[in-house]
Amino acid sequence: MTTPAHADTMEADTARLREMDARAAVIESTSRGSDGGQPTYEGLSGVVISASAICDVNGERGTLSYRGYDIGELACRATFEETAHLLWHGDLPSRQELDSLTARLTAERELNGAADLILSALPTHVEPMDALRTAVSSLTCNGTNGQDPGSMQEDQAICLVAKFPTIVARFYRRRHSLPPIAPRPDLSHAANFLYMVQGHEPTTLQAQTMDLAMLLMAEHGFNASTFAARVTAATLSDMYAAVTSAVGTLKGPLHGGANEQAMRMMLEIGEVANVAPYIDDALARKQRIMGFGHRVYRHSADPRAAYLRASLFDLCAESGDFHFYELATTIAEVVHAKKGLYPNVDFYAAPVLYLLGIPLELFVTVFAVSRVPGWTAHVMEQYANNKLIRPLSTYVGPENRVYCPIDDRGH
Ligand code: ACO
Repeated sequence: MTTPAHADTMEADTARLREMDARAAVIESTSRGSDGGQPTYEGLSGVVISASAICDVNGERGTLSYRGYDIGELACRATFEETAHLLWHGDLPSRQELDSLTARLTAERELNGAADLILSALPTHVEPMDALRTAVSSLTCNGTNGQDPGSMQEDQAICLVAKFPTIVARFYRRRHSLPPIAPRPDLSHAANFLYMVQGHEPTTLQAQTMDLAMLLMAEHGFNASTFAARVTAATLSDMYAAVTSAVGTLKGPLHGGANEQAMRMMLEIGEVANVAPYIDDALARKQRIMGFGHRVYRHSADPRAAYLRASLFDLCAESGDFHFYELATTIAEVVHAKKGLYPNVDFYAAPVLYLLGIPLELFVTVFAVSRVPGWTAHVMEQYANNKLIRPLSTYVGPENRVYCPIDDRGH
C-alpha cells in the first residue's frame, strides 16, 4: 500500500538510498583487514567505559529499563513528556512538575531567528537529517545569564526537545513547497509533531502510537549517537554541540538510518509470498537485513520491538488492513529461522511510522526527535561527573620515515 504522500518522495529517496548503500559497503570493507579477513578491532564491543544511572540495557536477559522502570511499565502507562522528566531527573514527575514541563516545552516549540533563517536558506535537495544537524547547531536558548548551571542545562534540554519536531516539520514542508504549520499548544508533543508534518490533527490512536514509538526510542544507554554526545560534552563543550554530534552519528545506516532502509525493504518485498526468496537471495549475497541484529541484544529479542509490533497490529486493526502486519511478522519469522537474528527497534518502527503517514525521508529524523531526551540526560550526567574521554589506538603505520623535499619525490 503506497499512499500519495509517500509516492512523491520515493523517487528522490532512491538516489539517496543508493548513496547510503554505497556508504555502508565502504564501511563494511574498511572494517576488515587488507586481506578481507575478520576485523581486528571490535568497535568497543563489550567494553564498559563508564557508569550511568540513566538506562540499563541488558543484552543477556533482553531487558531495558529507564531509571529503574522496565520499558514495559513505561510503554503501557507513561507519556513521552513524563519520560523526558524521568530521564533528566531520575524520578517520574508530580502532576505539578509535569504541567510545568509541558508548559515550558510548548512555549519553546516555535523556532527563533537563526534556525528559521538557516532552514529557509538551505537548498531543498539537502537531506532532512543534514538540515536538522545544521539547524540544531544554530540553536541558542533564551536568557541563561545569571542562572545556575543545573537549571541552564535543563533549559537547554527543554529547548532542544521542543524545537526538534518544528525543525523537522518546517524543513520537510519547505522541501515540498508546502506552507509552514505553526505548532499547536493544545496538542501533545507527539501529536503536534504529526500535525506540523501532515497539516491535519492525528486520530487518538495515531497520537498515542506516535507517543509510544517516541518513548521507546527516547533512550538506549551508550549507543553510538549517545556516546558521541558524551564524548563532545566531556570536553566541556556545550549541550548544543554535543547534540549536534549525536545527530550526525545517528544518521548512519548502521544506527538510526536502518528504519528507513527496513521500510524500503518491506515495500520492495511487497507480498508475503516474496519474503522467503527475497531473504534467501539477500543472505546469499551477504547483504545485511536492515532492522535485524543488535550490538547488545545478540541472543535475545530487542524488548522494544514487541511493543511496536503490538502498535502495528493496532494501527492495522483501525484501518482494517493487516497487510503490513502480516508482511512484517513473516519477514521476522523468516530472518530468525534462516539467520537466528531478532528484529531490533527499527524493524517494527518502520511500518508503524509508515502507517502513521510519516514520509520515508523523515524516518531517521523521527528517531532523532525521539532520542533528544536521552542525549540531553547523558550530557547532564557527563557534566555532573566529568572526565575527558580519550581512548588509545595501536599504531600500525610506517615508522622512522625521512622528510624528502617536494622536487625529489619522484611522483
Ligand atoms: N543481516 C544479516 N546478517 C547480520 C545482520 C543483519 N542485519 N546483523 C548481523 N549480521 C551477521 C553479520 O554478518 C555477522 O555474521 P558473520 O559473523 O557470519 O560475518 C554477524 O551477524 C555479527 O555481525 P556484526 O556486524 O559483527 O555485529 P555487530 O554487533 O557489529 O552489528 C549491527 C550490530 C550493526 C546492528 C548489525 O546487526 C547490523 O548491521 N544490523 C542491520 C542494521 C540495523 O538494523 N541497525 C539498527 C541497529 S539498532 C539501532 O541502532 C537503533
